[in-house]
Amino acid sequence: MYNLQLVMMKKYVLAVFFVMTMSFSLGALSETGAGEGEAMYQALGCWSCHGKDGHSEDDNYPSLAGRSSDWIVQQLEAFQSGERENPMMSAMAPMAEGFERVIADYLSSLKL
Ligand code: HEC
Repeated sequence: MYNLQLVMMKKYVLAVFFVMTMSFSLGALSETGAGEGEAMYQALGCWSCHGKDGHSEDDNYPSLAGRSSDWIVQQLEAFQSGERENPMMSAMAPMAEGFERVIADYLSSLKL
């Protein structure tokens, strides 16, 4: 009983957190173009695997900070076309459609 309630509560807290992150990120979108890549990186949840500021703390997920913008765009397009395959990224890359370049510019601007 208690456990179930705890699980429900965690889900609720996560949902609230997600909605807050979303609205914060979408709000940031209306600002200058500079923040757009960062906002999309957060809104799409890329950070949950690739880490805050593109620094992954998990060896299973590559860090993206400081990688070349062109290269990141190429990788996203390769996942979208199926040329490169990974269960997680094949699902994520299509969500970045239209924002590949701004996200890549944001990531490449970060320190290694
Ligand atoms: C569920 C976890 C997860 C999420 C969310 C995720 N990725 Fe990834 N990403 C991965 C994994 C795992 C790899 C490595 C895939 C491989 O080994 O082929 C990867 C690889 C990449 C690469 C190539 C990096 C390299 O070193 O080869 C790029 C670029 C990338 N992701 C961008 C993104 C972007 C942009 C988003 C948000 C739209 C995103 N990812 C969301 C897990 C994730």
